[in-house]
Amino acid sequence: MKKLLVFFSVILFATSFMFAAGQVEIFSWWTGGGEEEGLNALIELFNEWYPDVNVINATVAGGAGTNAKAVLKTRMLGGNPPDSFQVHAGEELTDTYVITGLMEPITDLLAEWGISDKFPEDILSICSYGGEVYSIPVNVHRGNVIFANNAILEEAGVDSIPLDWDGFFAALDKIKEAGYVPLALGDKNKWPATHLFEDVLASTLGPDGYKGLWDGSVSFDDPKVVEAVEIFGRLMDYVNEDHAAGTWQDATLMVQDGRAAMNVMGDWAEGYLKTLGWTPGVEFDWSVVPGNEGIFMVVSDTFGLPKGAPDAENAKKWLKLVSSVEGQDTFNPIKGSIPARVDADKSLYDVYLTWSMDDFATNALLPSIAHGSAAPEGFITALNDVINAYVTDRNVEKCVDGIIEAAEDNL
Ligand code: GAL
Repeated sequence: MKKLLVFFSVILFATSFMFAAGQVEIFSWWTGGGEEEGLNALIELFNEWYPDVNVINATVAGGAGTNAKAVLKTRMLGGNPPDSFQVHAGEELTDTYVITGLMEPITDLLAEWGISDKFPEDILSICSYGGEVYSIPVNVHRGNVIFANNAILEEAGVDSIPLDWDGFFAALDKIKEAGYVPLALGDKNKWPATHLFEDVLASTLGPDGYKGLWDGSVSFDDPKVVEAVEIFGRLMDYVNEDHAAGTWQDATLMVQDGRAAMNVMGDWAEGYLKTLGWTPGVEFDWSVVPGNEGIFMVVSDTFGLPKGAPDAENAKKWLKLVSSVEGQDTFNPIKGSIPARVDADKSLYDVYLTWSMDDFATNALLPSIAHGSAAPEGFITALNDVINAYVTDRNVEKCVDGIIEAAEDNL
């Protein structure tokens, strides 16, 4: 009898695969704390909605797509696309995949699902090209945030995170005197240094000046760019000595385990801190980077439909899920991002994310360089190299010349 039961279970198991409505391969780099949990929650929901479609979770580890982006590009150019993939809104989507003819327009899908007007115009426009939508934003991350260990700030006598550079440097000195690393950095993969630099750039140029870099009305040899390089250089006097050996997670962990006071990072760090057991407003606080008041650095993760996706119908099911209120409200409270949908349920979001939502609604929205929205890949790669060399040699003139050259060559 027992044997018979085992036999029938095996048959049942095998046939469930034979009759499954196939699979869907979803490509991303979400393997870090907070990221992985968010993605898993989405996949679980997908399994509930479409129990007969098997999700192949194709991830390539490395924050901000350090390794994933190259793997994806090779696959896309080699005619071997996944069914859908994580891609930043803006140039990363349009320059790399849309203009090259590798994506299907999905404007009609949004209309069919009645959600064409459910995303902020500013975000949907950077998911679009030539009048067609090419990807669906699943979230909006904020890039220009400082996360701080409250106990260390208190011990060092820093009441709140100063919003101006003078006050901020004074706070960094106090923290240093108290025996802690003032600012954690993990730039092994280069982009975290560029990430910090772009926030400093936004602070010296202001919203219009920063936007001007991308429409050509502001030149990269502007004195405000030089000022940003100088401020960024001063900040490097306060980072951990082993910064070049660590990742963004390592830097966030330094804040959580009490070695460092602060870390400038996108709010995926908030998702990570929560998975480490911290509660926003209790063990940690946050602020915008000095000089960034009224500025929201936008990092938006989106999903689209590659041309020649092997399971296009199932890919559309994935897109329907990530574009839904339920999908967004399942993913974002865990991921540390706010929903892109304007009609999401605000009550599900914690005190940090509610702060972010309020600022998103009222601030100037600027596209991130480090996370692919403002500039094409060639510029980002060149800038990463220039900034990383500067972290070591601290040669302001060489750095500024390098930035100008990167712009001349790639913009
Ligand atoms: C960003 C991405 C986030 C988060 C982060 C760290 O580029 O938009 O979702 O994953 O990298 O990996």
